[in-house]
Amino acid sequence: MEILRTVAELRRWSRALHCEGKTVALVPTMGALHAGHASLIRAARARASHVVVSIFVNPTQFGPNEDFNRYPRAFEADCALAGAEGAAVIFAPPVEEMYPAGAATFVDLYSLTDRLDGASRPGHFRGVATIVAKLLIAAEPDQAIFGQKDAAQVAVIRRVVADLCLPTEIVVCPIVRDSDGLALSSRNVFLSPIERTQALALSRTVRLVEALSASGERSRSILVSAARKVMSAEPDLRVDYVALVDWATLQPVDVAVPGSLFALAAKVGPTRLIDNTILA
Ligand code: PAF
Repeated sequence: MEILRTVAELRRWSRALHCEGKTVALVPTMGALHAGHASLIRAARARASHVVVSIFVNPTQFGPNEDFNRYPRAFEADCALAGAEGAAVIFAPPVEEMYPAGAATFVDLYSLTDRLDGASRPGHFRGVATIVAKLLIAAEPDQAIFGQKDAAQVAVIRRVVADLCLPTEIVVCPIVRDSDGLALSSRNVFLSPIERTQALALSRTVRLVEALSASGERSRSILVSAARKVMSAEPDLRVDYVALVDWATLQPVDVAVPGSLFALAAKVGPTRLIDNTILA
């Protein structure tokens, strides 16, 4: 498996494949790959002849007091996992490659980015939109694969791709959970054993909301208050948001329809975790 460090190399690689009639899928990541990423790489392999996994801890999507410096980094293990899942190339640029000296261009959305995670992480989605646009412009992939766990991020990326007329298809894969229900996240390594038990309140809440919805409950106020009740039963969990929204606009909806996003975020100790479900 090849490791590419520059945009020029990545673009050359992708264009050469396209010239031969091959297809390219991009799996954008910040590394610390786990089984959730492995499922994204497999989904990419199923759709394209060649897969590139980008590994870049993007500084612009972290706030000044967030965990950029301590974000887990495991490059060797990441390359091994990506290779074993069939990736052809790793794109791991240095920061100066993606943000050259004097960089002054950002992708700023006029809506969406102040909702859900954007409300408590100002600037986060601007950083995500910017780096994902750069990666799509650099790799020119036929598909880019994202996980539903970051559902608000998916809404932002779909908006960016539509607004910038980028020709890449955005593919969204289901959340992968541990056997105890916890949604896989690179940040789970920060959880102590006791925090991990507390964190299970998130997936418990998601399951309750899915069950209520399956039994016909559609009202936002009822679903949200039932969810808050489960979460508040775990006293050390600090709820950030519990929301029923339209998945495209991230605006609250009073009545759930098929495809509505029920999303939640909470802090367990210093670690912020998210989870969600798309209602049937
Ligand atoms: O979901 C992530 O890991 C990141 O937000 C992404 C999409 C790779 C952009 O840095």
